[in-house]
Amino acid sequence: MIAVRPRVLITRRLPSSVIARLEASCDVERFDGDGNMPHDMLVTRIAGKHGLVSLITDSVDRSVIDAGAELRVIANVGVGYNNIDVAAARKQGIVVTNTPDILTDATADFTMALILAITRRLGEGDRLVRRGEWKGWALDQLLGMQLGGKQLGIVGFGRIGRAVAARAAAFGMTIAHTSRKGDGMPFDRLLSTSDVVSLHVPLTPETRHLIGQPELARMKRTAYLVNTTRGPVVDEGALAWALKNRLIAGAALDVYEREPELHPDLLALENVVLAPHLGSATTETRTAMADLAARNAIAVLSGEPPLTPVP
Ligand code: DGY
Repeated sequence: MIAVRPRVLITRRLPSSVIARLEASCDVERFDGDGNMPHDMLVTRIAGKHGLVSLITDSVDRSVIDAGAELRVIANVGVGYNNIDVAAARKQGIVVTNTPDILTDATADFTMALILAITRRLGEGDRLVRRGEWKGWALDQLLGMQLGGKQLGIVGFGRIGRAVAARAAAFGMTIAHTSRKGDGMPFDRLLSTSDVVSLHVPLTPETRHLIGQPELARMKRTAYLVNTTRGPVVDEGALAWALKNRLIAGAALDVYEREPELHPDLLALENVVLAPHLGSATTETRTAMADLAARNAIAVLSGEPPLTPVP
């Protein structure tokens, strides 16, 4: 518990209801510029703050943590927290929180949108129409892959992976999965037997480049890869090469290795759907995520346990 009114730094614009919630019990300093608070500004402005509400695009590394000598809580707006040096924060006694559960449905819905978009060639069709080149209905035009009866391989069977499985089952897909616990199908077999492979593992040192050239070569030539988790789980250069050489049929990506940059070859390919990290992007979900982060910060600064500490 902090005797003075706690001071909280917010790194990006948040909904006004969330700012109001924080301002009711804290002195709030916020960055109102476009995009991210520059990292050097974060290092400077964290001094003297008790709480930080950060976004997944902020690098909350050791330099930020060291500069935040009075920091008690880092409340990340996002289920992923690979942007935070959690070990360094814990060493300083700082609680780190994330926003699980509330984005599960939105992200699973969006994964299905990407699966449908790539297997039914929606991007290609959209571009054809916009170019003014559509000549009208044709029996064999832009034929895609039916989902019913196909196997969806889910890599990482946590909350979001399970929610995708439930949705895909309603489309008639059979489900295979791998998980950290070691249950489910062996990874290699899942890759070689699935018609769609969807990634739902968090980014850790173990999952970086989990999908590279050997894994892409193991997939069916008719299969699709979908990534809505974190870009570095896939070796983007290897994926661009595999798509170009038709080693797999296509990919749908919401995340990239160096966002907002993309491997330049991806932009020229027809067999890839490219989304700008929209998995949880509904008004309802993004507002709930920001609100949960604020409630986490307030709880810790009031001497109460965090609602959703990172595991
Ligand atoms: C998360 O919460 O980690 C998502 O990537 C944000 O949409």
